[in-house]
Amino acid sequence: MSAPRLEHLFHPDNARGYTRGIADAVRLLLDQLDSLAGPTTGISPEEAAAPVAEVDLDSPLADGTAALAEVKRLWLDDAVWFHDPSYAAHLNCPVVIPSLVGELLIAAVNTSMDTFDQSAGGTFMERRLIDWTANRAGYPEETRDGIFTSGGSQSNLQALLLARGEAERRGVPLDRLRFLTSADSHFSIAKSARLLGMGDDAAIAVPTDAEHRMDVGALRAALDECVVDGLVPAAVVATAGTTDFGMIDPLHAIADACQDFNVWFHVDAAYGGGLLASPRYRHLLDGIERSDSVTIDYHKTWFQPVSSSALLVRDLATMQHASWYADYLNPRESQNPNQVDKSLQTTRRFDALKLWLTLRTMGADEIGSYLETVIDLAREVYDALSVQPDIEVITPSQLSTVVFRYVDPHLDEDAVGDLNRRIRAEMWNGGRSVVAATKVGGRQFLKLTLLNPMASVQDVLDIVEQVRTLGHSLGPALPEAVR
Ligand SMILES: Cc1ncc(COP(=O)(O)O)c(C=O)c1O
Repeated sequence: MSAPRLEHLFHPDNARGYTRGIADAVRLLLDQLDSLAGPTTGISPEEAAAPVAEVDLDSPLADGTAALAEVKRLWLDDAVWFHDPSYAAHLNCPVVIPSLVGELLIAAVNTSMDTFDQSAGGTFMERRLIDWTANRAGYPEETRDGIFTSGGSQSNLQALLLARGEAERRGVPLDRLRFLTSADSHFSIAKSARLLGMGDDAAIAVPTDAEHRMDVGALRAALDECVVDGLVPAAVVATAGTTDFGMIDPLHAIADACQDFNVWFHVDAAYGGGLLASPRYRHLLDGIERSDSVTIDYHKTWFQPVSSSALLVRDLATMQHASWYADYLNPRESQNPNQVDKSLQTTRRFDALKLWLTLRTMGADEIGSYLETVIDLAREVYDALSVQPDIEVITPSQLSTVVFRYVDPHLDEDAVGDLNRRIRAEMWNGGRSVVAATKVGGRQFLKLTLLNPMASVQDVLDIVEQVRTLGHSLGPALPEAVR
C-alpha cells in the first residue's frame, strides 16, 4: 500500500502549503469584493442548482487553484453580500475584522470545546465571555452561567429544555406543560415545544398590543386560563427585539407575571442582545436581569460571523437538565471543567475566540456604537417614509427594522399584496438591492432590516425609491394625472 500524501495537512512542516492556500483564498476574496456590482446578482434557484449538480465529487480537480476557481463560479460570483448598503433583508450583519482573524485561528487549531482536554485555555476564555455577558445582563455573580451555542434557535431550545426540566421536577406530566410567548415571537419557540415532545399546541401565542409588544393583560389572562384548564405554564418567553418589528416586550411587567405564577422567565434577546454593549440604549433591556435565561446572538447585533450565540442562565444548577455523562468523554467523577456538561452539542467550535478578539481589539463600546448607529438609521428612515403618501409604514421599531409597503389607492388589498410581492421579486432579479417580506395581520408588507452601520439614510431611501419605481411600472397602467 502506498504511503498517503500529506501535502494537504496543516502541520508545522507545511507552512508553505498553508500560506499558499490562505493567500490564494484571500486574493480571490479581495478580487471578488473589487468586482461587486451589488448585494446579489439576482440568480434564480434553477441557475444556482444546475452547475452544482454537474460537479463530479468523485474526481478531484488538478489543484487548489482549480478548486477555488470552481468555488468562485458556483458560489462567490453570485453570493449575497451583507456589507453592501443595499442589502437590507434579513438579520445578517457585516462582520468585524478581529472576528475574521479569530475564524482563521479557530479553524486551523480545530479546538473542540466539549472537554478541557480538547480546549485547555479556550474553556476559560469561553467561560469569561459568558460571565462577562451575564454580568451585563445583570445576573448574580454567585450563580450565573451559560454556554456558547450554534445560534438563537439552539439557545431558545436549550432554555426551554431547562424550563421543562424544572417543571418536571415538580412532577408535572409533559402533556400538561405549556410555553407562553407573543404572537410575534420567533418560530423557534413553537418548534422547540415540538422538539421537546410537547406537541404543537403547547406553545400558546399571546396577543400583542398596537406596537407589536406582548400584551401583558392578555398574558395574565392566558396564565389564568391555563390554571383553570388544569395546564401548567412551564415558561413565558419574552422577545427583546422581535424579528419583524424590532420591538421589545415589556420585561418588568412580564417578570412580575412570572413571579406571580411561579413560571420560568426566558428572554429571547437574539436580536436585541447587542444592547448590552450600548451605552445609549442599554436601558431598553431593563428588566432582563429578572429573567431565568437569556438568548444572545453575537452573530446578529455584535457583528460576528455565523455561528456565535449564547444561552445565559441565572442559576447554574438548572444546567443539569442538559447534562449527560460518558466514561469515554466526561465521566461523572471527572474534576475537569468540561463544557459539554452543559451543552447540547458535543464537538463544538471555539466560536468564543471571535468575540474575545473583537472585545480585546475594539472594545464593547465600539460594537455597541454600531448597533446604536443602525437604530438611529432606522428611526430616520421611518420618519422619512411616514410622510410619503404612496408608502404605508408600520409603527417605529425600537431596534432597526422598517416594515413598509408601496400602496396605490386604485388597488384593493389583494392587489396591493400581490404588487409588493412582485416588487420584491423584481428587486432580487435586478440585483441592486435586497429587501425582505412579511405579513402583518394577514396583509403583505416589505421589510428593511438595517444592520449595516456603513449604510446612510440616503442609501436606504434609494432602496425605497426602487420600490416606488417598480410599483409604478408593475402597477396598473394609469394616466399620470390620476396617480
Ligand atoms: C428573535 C429571534 N430569535 C431567534 C432567532 C433564531 O436565531 P438563529 O437564526 O441564530 O437560530 C432569530 C433569528 O432571526 C430571531 O430573530
